[in-house]
Amino acid sequence: SKWKAFKNVTAFGAVGFVGYTLYEMYYHRHPTEYPNPTDPKKKTVVILGSGWASTSFLKSIDTDLYNVVVVSPRNYFLFTPLLPSCTVGTIDIRSLVEPIRFITRHKNNEVKVYEAECTEIDSEKKVITIVDNSEVKGDNATSTIAYDYLVVGIGAQSQTFGIKGVEEYGCFLKEVWDAQKIRTKLMDCIETAAFPGQSPEEIERLLHMVVVGGGPTGIEYAAELHDFLVEDLTHWYPELAGKIKITLVEAMPNVLPAFSKQLIDYTESTFKQQNIHLHTKTMVKEVKEKEIIVQGPDGVKESMPYGLLVWATGNTSRPLVKNLMAQYPETQNIRRGLAVDDWLRMAGTNDIYALGDATATKYAPTAQVAAQQGKYLARVFAQLHATEYYEAQVEEAATPEEKAKNMRRLQKAQDIKPFHYSHQGSLCYIGSDKAIADLPFGPGNLASGGVATYAFWRSAYISNLFSARNKWLVITDWTKKTFWGRDISRE
Ligand code: FAD
Ligand code: NAI
Repeated sequence: SKWKAFKNVTAFGAVGFVGYTLYEMYYHRHPTEYPNPTDPKKKTVVILGSGWASTSFLKSIDTDLYNVVVVSPRNYFLFTPLLPSCTVGTIDIRSLVEPIRFITRHKNNEVKVYEAECTEIDSEKKVITIVDNSEVKGDNATSTIAYDYLVVGIGAQSQTFGIKGVEEYGCFLKEVWDAQKIRTKLMDCIETAAFPGQSPEEIERLLHMVVVGGGPTGIEYAAELHDFLVEDLTHWYPELAGKIKITLVEAMPNVLPAFSKQLIDYTESTFKQQNIHLHTKTMVKEVKEKEIIVQGPDGVKESMPYGLLVWATGNTSRPLVKNLMAQYPETQNIRRGLAVDDWLRMAGTNDIYALGDATATKYAPTAQVAAQQGKYLARVFAQLHATEYYEAQVEEAATPEEKAKNMRRLQKAQDIKPFHYSHQGSLCYIGSDKAIADLPFGPGNLASGGVATYAFWRSAYISNLFSARNKWLVITDWTKKTFWGRDISRE
């Protein structure tokens, strides 16, 4: 009977997925044709960014209540958790992105989308400056937009700690183009190592892939690289594959500090089995074109020649966030990002809200936090609108009964609950079809690692992907990889 129940659940899931896909196909092709135009009587909310935080806010904001404008230098949402898989071709980049207009074109009311970077926020005049920084520019590449409310969801940028040479020679792993650059450079290193007459030392250098930072980004990248080496490069480059070396450098005594001790040990022992060289308690001090200078636990500095360097040492604030903080020196004094109150309002302001990696809160800078904040903030905005509406109703009430009734409604609208984060668990891929998971379980947590956890990792990511189209594409990419392996062409 267990088998019967399993079959029923699977069939039910499959029918649901196909139904959802058909619905989405229809949805994709039939956007709202004539959305109501911008209404000057409504307040305008300008949203900066099209990442986890802003997209989640955009999905939930009620355009019947506000005019909405989106400004972002990229016109799409990117599903970052699977980005490390794009660096070696396990997944195609196009499978992880979805245009932001996919959301805006289905709203009842017009939402303006500008592919541009916000370069300045004038919080006194309530105006932002936007610049078209893309390759193709028209006669006009700068403009200004007035706002009633500003929602800052611009994320963060890769941290370098000001270490010399990182920007110039390292590859970050944050955006689509970072993954593309890593993939191209990796294949270039290998093909250059195969060039005739290369000295053994130069071959060794070119085939040394160094990852700096033992957080989840660095670990997942090293894991993907390992799989690519074992499953594909070994067959395509039999004479070179044995010489490819992967090294991970981490400043702290162990990797993945946010995970349980047993999962850290499990990851480190898995890396050992996979022949990934782990250098903990080792700081990178300088990056040169062909070598990095590292300082080990004994304090001695040494040179480490490399071919490809992937830099994953966490986040730092973007210049726009730093500029905004500088306008409020008394309230904005946390270097990590924008200080916000429990309702995500930027400290020191009345009409600027901030969420996601752009902020400095007690939560880790993760997609989970950013997405929950976005959804929550849309509810705050609905209540802000209701507050204003009932304030006017109280003013205009003709009778004491009507005034009392609207007063009660006003009080209810004003009672905005603070943001509450619900942690769904942490997952990380560690290579060889193994993943680790720290999941909340009752009052404690459940730590698991291995192949079964990898199956869970896959299903969790599939179910969280943005659209049914993304889900089909990722499943297809995984299937393609199983049958034909990864593509080694240099793009
Ligand atoms: P982002 O998603 O970075 O979005 C910022 C947006 O702002 C972008 O659209 C950007 O183009 C735009 N922008 C930038 N500058 C400007 C400007 N001047 N004006 C207007 N717009 C601007 N978290 C998890 O919870 N689970 C995971 O498995 C996970 N995996 C990850 C894997 C990788 C490789 C990386 C890099 C991160 C991962 N994260 C994960 C973290 C997660 O991606 C971030 O916490 C999340 O993206 C933060 O969302 P955000 O909206 O604040 O910023
Ligand atoms: P991170 O901040 O988590 O880790 C960076 C690591 O780099 C730290 O362990 C730090 O000690 C090390 N480091 C710093 N400077 C160094 C130096 N000079 N030399 C050597 N090591 C150095 O950064 P990461 O991995 O980019 O993650 C950023 C955020 O995104 C985190 O909140 C993380 O949880 C989230 N994320 C989550 C993922 C998941 O859940 N699977 C995947 C990727 C990111």
